[in-house]
Amino acid sequence: MSGATGTNPATGTAGTTEARASVPMVDAVSVSKSFGSNEVLKSITLRVQRGEVMCVIGPSGSGKSTFLRCINHLESVDAGRLYVDGDLIGYRQKGDRLYELKASEAAQQRRDIGMVFQHFNLFPHMTALENVIEAPIRVNGMSKQAAVARGTELLARVGLGQQASHYPSQLSGGQQQRVAIARALAMDPKLMLFDEPTSALDPELVGDVLDVMRELATSGMTMVVVTHEMGFAREVGDSLVFMDGGVIVEAGTPRDVLGNPQHERTKAFLSKVL
Ligand SMILES: Nc1ncnc2c1ncn2[C@@H]1O[C@H](COP(=O)(O)OP(=O)(O)O)[C@@H](O)[C@H]1O
Ligand SMILES: [Mg+2]
Repeated sequence: MSGATGTNPATGTAGTTEARASVPMVDAVSVSKSFGSNEVLKSITLRVQRGEVMCVIGPSGSGKSTFLRCINHLESVDAGRLYVDGDLIGYRQKGDRLYELKASEAAQQRRDIGMVFQHFNLFPHMTALENVIEAPIRVNGMSKQAAVARGTELLARVGLGQQASHYPSQLSGGQQQRVAIARALAMDPKLMLFDEPTSALDPELVGDVLDVMRELATSGMTMVVVTHEMGFAREVGDSLVFMDGGVIVEAGTPRDVLGNPQHERTKAFLSKVL
């Protein structure tokens, strides 16, 4: 995307690498979103720095998934701005007005943003390896040989080197989720979004998925993780955001938010989940 269409006026980002290194990876500025009369996000402002792991917690219905989906423009926003790596997401600004990007342009922006869902969403008729190489070949035009080499490497990285030729139905939920993570990584994303990636898993399968996410965090990936895994949030998260009713009630280090919550709503929520 060219700088002219997407420059963040707040940071004055030019399109150069040096200028980008100083902008946040995610910059949400007063983002609001309603479904009909239901105001789901109420002026959300937050920043995620490069290499940061931000965990997001909050009760069901508080707007966590909607916020993640706005970051890669799976949902449009009603007000505010969202920038990823300095690029305005989903819109082009002309003067004071915003114009929504065409679907193909939004898809282009989305290529750099990996997303992992609660329900893996693998292609059932494709093997683990085929799932991982599909987008690099079809979307990025990578050669099959290069995609297979990279896909094989990524499956090994998530602990599935032996399962490359297995179909999703032959894999456990935890293994399927690790394939989904490998599939997202195959597009070389600069940002990874996780929406309750372990919520659908049997308890004994959660650890292997969290291990993969921990390794990814250690490698320097910028991550926004909606999760109920407080241990993971405390250990791996650089920051923690508590959302309730479409607002950020409290944000800070995991140690502070979990150990010394300032708001009654945070205390009430934590007393139920800790
Ligand atoms: N596509 C949609 N259409 C209408 N309402 C929606 C849609 N997606 C989410 N909502 C509503 O938005 C609110 C927040 O949902 P969601 O972002 O999924 O919350 P969370 O992920 O925190 O559980 C809920 O009231 C939900 O019913
Ligand atoms: Mg959700």
